[in-house]
Amino acid sequence: MTESTVNLSTKICFGPSGRAVSQEIDNDLLDNLLQHLSMERNANVQYFSMSLWFQERDLNGFSSFFIKESKDEMEHAYKFTDYLIARGQNIELHSLPKPIQKWESIEDLISFAFNLEAELTISLQQLYSIAERSTDVRTSVFLDPIVESQIKSEDEFAHILGKVKFSKGNPSAMLIIDEYLSKK
Ligand SMILES: [Fe+2]
Repeated sequence: MTESTVNLSTKICFGPSGRAVSQEIDNDLLDNLLQHLSMERNANVQYFSMSLWFQERDLNGFSSFFIKESKDEMEHAYKFTDYLIARGQNIELHSLPKPIQKWESIEDLISFAFNLEAELTISLQQLYSIAERSTDVRTSVFLDPIVESQIKSEDEFAHILGKVKFSKGNPSAMLIIDEYLSKK
């Protein structure tokens, strides 16, 4: 490009953080992205508390599985904060509810975890449709691999719930599932 073709008067947009951005984020999409960030952080804390519940009962396979899941949720949260910062946003973190730490049974706990995953999937689907509605292709592209991995995660929890339900609280069966999860 020669000097004469450079348009120095082109207006540059800056996000709330002062970072240059070429496309502002629609307000509704931004609110939903921040809400989803809270959901990922909430899952991080909830899975950590579940890992402790299992560790207290010497079910270390379940416990290590939930520690890994907890770390994965924080990784997802980082992805959203990285993305929002790249889009010129300041991140305001919301307060999180206290995690649930009392469970009547392993089945109740795993059912709750499955529902958390299902809620995350629904939230991602909503984000996806809002991004498309506001023709924010950057966000659609950002969400693509996250939606794919979320669907796999939901499937994994459904599989574990199926095993736990089938075992009907039988201790020997639970120990087999614990061993199975220790290898994941
Ligand atoms: Fe997640």
